[in-house]
Amino acid sequence: MKTKLSKAVSVALGYVDVLVGLQWGDEGKGKMIDYLSQFYDVVCRFNGGQNAGHTIIHGVLKFVLHILPSGILNPNVKNVIGNGVVFSPEGFVDEVNEIQEKAGIDIKPNLYISNRAHITIPTHRWLDKASEDSKGDSKIGSTLKGISPTYRDKISREGLRYGDIYLTNFKEMYQALKTEHLKMMESKYHFILSIEDMDELDIQEAKFFSAIESMKSFQICDTSKLLNDELHAGKKILAEGAQGTLLDIDHGSYKFVTSSNVISGAVCTGLGISPKRVRKIYGAAKAYNTRVGSGPFPTELFDDNGDLMRKNGCEFGATTGRPRRCGDLDLVLLKQQCIVNGVTDLIILKGDVLSGFNQLPVCKSYDLPDGTNVKWPPHDLYDAKPVYEQVPGWKQTMQELNVCKTIDDLPQEFINYLNQIVEYCNTDIAYISVGPDKEHTIEV
Ligand code: IMP
Repeated sequence: MKTKLSKAVSVALGYVDVLVGLQWGDEGKGKMIDYLSQFYDVVCRFNGGQNAGHTIIHGVLKFVLHILPSGILNPNVKNVIGNGVVFSPEGFVDEVNEIQEKAGIDIKPNLYISNRAHITIPTHRWLDKASEDSKGDSKIGSTLKGISPTYRDKISREGLRYGDIYLTNFKEMYQALKTEHLKMMESKYHFILSIEDMDELDIQEAKFFSAIESMKSFQICDTSKLLNDELHAGKKILAEGAQGTLLDIDHGSYKFVTSSNVISGAVCTGLGISPKRVRKIYGAAKAYNTRVGSGPFPTELFDDNGDLMRKNGCEFGATTGRPRRCGDLDLVLLKQQCIVNGVTDLIILKGDVLSGFNQLPVCKSYDLPDGTNVKWPPHDLYDAKPVYEQVPGWKQTMQELNVCKTIDDLPQEFINYLNQIVEYCNTDIAYISVGPDKEHTIEV
């Protein structure tokens, strides 16, 4: 008699929840990840790099994280920088030192770095600059952290990975890549480094190699295996998106986007986990819109209202310090991003900033140049002329909103404003953030 085909044994598995930004970044993801991290065993970054700026406020201390996952201040959480991330070792080491000094804790034991994450080398940043300089008025507004050139090398299969730093010929690999970069700078961008630039590059290179040595004292490993082992042990993982999904290389406002996939789907490729393990998808959005860098922004405000939002919302870039462009809530874009990401739980932040406005215009469709009116963004967002509906504002001040602890404490007009979001996007709100601190968070 034949032996029967074996049956796979089912194992208890944990799950991955994802948190992504639904706008152009800076939605306040850092605060929410820091808040949510208490419910998870592992927090991971899966995309982007040091272009991110996640602000966390702990008591009186403010931390801006660029590459470290936002669970890093929680001693009970493992933090993972996944394979989909790219970053420079110098920036990483500086950030670790700064955080350790300020927080007075040793974060190394809880931090794991993928051996497949790509390394940003100093000439990646020079290439970023050369590329932006060559664009004149049509600059992307890059953070100049070398993100795009590092991803370009990754996709061209020419990049360096953190697993490579142990190879005996790492320096030669570095040298070959640097030589290619210098050639490209000259041939593609007509950018030739001056003597002073070369001196600066020498200094950057010395810092780079010293940081590479320091990296060897961190836990660099196959984080896909680590995460799948955690899942098999029934652990709960939170994946922390960087940037916002309107900056996604495929689904954002191309070409004014970043160079990675930002949407929730990227969590599987950026961490090496199965889509079957993904449970909730949190989507974070401000109650209005902001954008740094160039590119289309249909509801942008150029008047006093925009200035007031910028002032009340402290809308200045966490990575570059640039003033953020501010504008009204765009439900067409928000709904598209809810759908593309499969958002299960909305998180609406910074509604308190809208205190003091009598009327709040909300964009519900676009008029296009061909005379049509649409509820889905067109191929070129510059073509979208927003059509607004006015929603009444509330009389309460920002300070009064900051102290609201439950939904019942919120002004009726504020709830009506939130209901516009839920009904238009057909997505439930899970959290409402009404101030910068973790305590200013209402669980719905
Ligand atoms: P890069 O990713 O530095 O090349 O920048 C490309 C575009 O994305 C620029 O408009 C940046 O301002 C924007 N960007 C990149 N990262 C962030 C972020 O974390 N928050 C907001 N905007 C970002």
